[in-house]
Amino acid sequence: MSRMEDGPLTRADDERIERLVRSMTWDEKLAQMQVVFRPDPAELERWVRAGAGAIFWPRSAAAVNELQRVAIEQTRLGIPLLVGLDVIHGQRTIAPTPLAMAASFDPDIVERTARLAALEAASGGVNWTFSPMIDVSRDPRWGRAVESFGEDPYLNAALGAAMIRGYQGDNLHDPGSIAATAKHFAGYGHAEGGRDYNTADMSEHRLRNVYLEPFRAATSAGVAAVMAAFNTIGGKPVHAHRRLLTGVLKDEWGMRGVIVGDADGVANLVPHGVAADLLDAVRQSVQAGLDIEMGGNLTDDGGHAVLAPGDLPADRVDDAVRRILTLKSRLGLFDRPYVPEGAEITEPTRHARALVRAAAIRSTVLLKNDGTLPVTLNGRVLLTGPYATSTDHLGAWTQSFAAPAGSIAAELIGRHPQVTFTIEPGAGFYDDDPADLRAVETAAASHDLVLVFAGEPSHLSGEAASRSDLRLPGRQEELIRAVAATGVPFVVVLVNGRPLVTSGWIDAAPAVLEAWHLGTEAPAAIVDVLTGAAEPAGRLPMSFPRSTGQVPIYYSHEATGRPATRGGTMRQETIDIGLAGPDNVTEKYTSKYLDLELGPQFDFGHGGGYTTFRHANARLSADRLSCAALDSGARVEVSVDVSNTGGRDGDEVVQLYVRDLVSSVAQPVRRMVAFARRHVAAGQTITVSFKLGTEQLGFWDVDANPARFVVEPGTFALYIGSSLHATHELAFEVG
Ligand code: BGC
Repeated sequence: MSRMEDGPLTRADDERIERLVRSMTWDEKLAQMQVVFRPDPAELERWVRAGAGAIFWPRSAAAVNELQRVAIEQTRLGIPLLVGLDVIHGQRTIAPTPLAMAASFDPDIVERTARLAALEAASGGVNWTFSPMIDVSRDPRWGRAVESFGEDPYLNAALGAAMIRGYQGDNLHDPGSIAATAKHFAGYGHAEGGRDYNTADMSEHRLRNVYLEPFRAATSAGVAAVMAAFNTIGGKPVHAHRRLLTGVLKDEWGMRGVIVGDADGVANLVPHGVAADLLDAVRQSVQAGLDIEMGGNLTDDGGHAVLAPGDLPADRVDDAVRRILTLKSRLGLFDRPYVPEGAEITEPTRHARALVRAAAIRSTVLLKNDGTLPVTLNGRVLLTGPYATSTDHLGAWTQSFAAPAGSIAAELIGRHPQVTFTIEPGAGFYDDDPADLRAVETAAASHDLVLVFAGEPSHLSGEAASRSDLRLPGRQEELIRAVAATGVPFVVVLVNGRPLVTSGWIDAAPAVLEAWHLGTEAPAAIVDVLTGAAEPAGRLPMSFPRSTGQVPIYYSHEATGRPATRGGTMRQETIDIGLAGPDNVTEKYTSKYLDLELGPQFDFGHGGGYTTFRHANARLSADRLSCAALDSGARVEVSVDVSNTGGRDGDEVVQLYVRDLVSSVAQPVRRMVAFARRHVAAGQTITVSFKLGTEQLGFWDVDANPARFVVEPGTFALYIGSSLHATHELAFEVG
């Protein structure tokens, strides 16, 4: 694992950094502390000549080299540039979106696709990416959930660390390694109402135990940079939050990389109403611990600082500059500022395509299946829904030069010449004609199978793309119901950027595959999975709600004093909540909605496959450990035997959850502490084991001053199995 802040710089590196800090003027220091983008190349060059320390959105290897040459040959001190870019899920060859990749539950594929992205980006002169986004996302209305690894802190931590390893490699100095940025620190995913940029107020308990945990893991993994979030916490915008930026990140966790602001996040302190003007905003954020401002507000384009030396503490500015120069040294930029232009990767290689196709397959989730999937394609097949012919598979955040995807229809037609395909879109994303629906109904009658490709276009998720209605847009629900009414066998494939509300049609669909936005090789991967050439074995990284009004709904909620349980003991006050079935009759004075079944439509961790698994013999290496033993690093091993009982080879995702049964604070009803995706051949049995220690059993006690991570004595329930509910329960004592 890369820990860039731990790797020693050479003495010569250290001396160079100190020499530079000593010889830099005030203007040169502030110019160094900003990352600047200007669409006009001449203007950008002027900023670089005036000493800007970093630029973003590079156009090509040649354009970057030109700017590096200006920085090195035409500035007084010749300091090379950081060159940043939002390489979020691929540079040229696009991998699935982060939310989709989270469904793979596979840190190895996340690391390998990040490595590919780093190699492609580095070849074009990029040395710094603004990724991974590890904001815990529990509100699917929030469009940026697509850039995250979903609702669970542990999953975000594990996959974020994997992505950092992929970008940064073993050593930042290696060609092909780029600096990663964990973002957005912190709480950004908790935006009220799921509305982007909104207030994210929360208790210290919630902040520490949920939202900060992935960032703590990223810091341990040696992330080179952390980006401040746009939101406020407790009324304080994070860009001016000294206790979080300096107190937690730098002092408590020892982060020695750089803290970068988000785009104009410093300037936004003015509309937030906490800074009188831009100068005040700059002053507050640098004092709070920000090292690099994003936008270019620290100097003018002639490199003259907007603040005088007395306006900011000199040692804070020197600390920021030292961190920036250290990162440049770690990246090897002083020794190797230019990239070989002839080696710029502008097209996906065969290897790159194969890798993102494998990642795409691993990200698919089988939501339900009555045996219709995998399909055997022959005879006449009707393709319908907007995603039959759409090529919009790349997802929320790619650059204009990303390698495009084709359409699923073209992939099917190209690979299955023996089949007669008819394409009848039926519904688009917007403004549909009901006559198109009728055309689908009529056509379906003369076909053996209907494949419905429904979803959300990429631009409906991502930044500033929150939705208040989580159903399929347009008439797509009607389309699915119309197809169901024909009685012809059918499958629904969802292509989308967030959990959707599916209750309007899910019961009518025999088989549903969640395919997200899977990137450049999406159509190939989807056809592989539909036809059984590959297995769908992903699991949901976010709960799918039954209705938008149920949001936020996430599995790891705190225990309430009045939990509603299916089939719970009846009392006098029981009421029929108006839904069919005895399961839906529940006690009145419990936490629930009167007009909705309990729980989400699909749980976190849910997903099927084309084979079946049996878990047996769940066991612990010890059923008790003392606090003292845990403190000194003792761990207990939890194991389970997993048998593939079906007729096909397949992958199982073994999940381990913990509940601290009696604690000084209300604990989550379940909390994922480990998972493993394993390939199991048909008929084979494997043993999967996890080790549990302080990290998995403890929590942040925020009543202590300072907050501390504690394991409280008592009984812990451990749940190991193939999903949130299909688990074996074991009891473990901490004494
Ligand atoms: C986003 C960041 C991104 C930055 C630079 C901002 O609007 O919030 O995630 O890295 O733009 O493109």
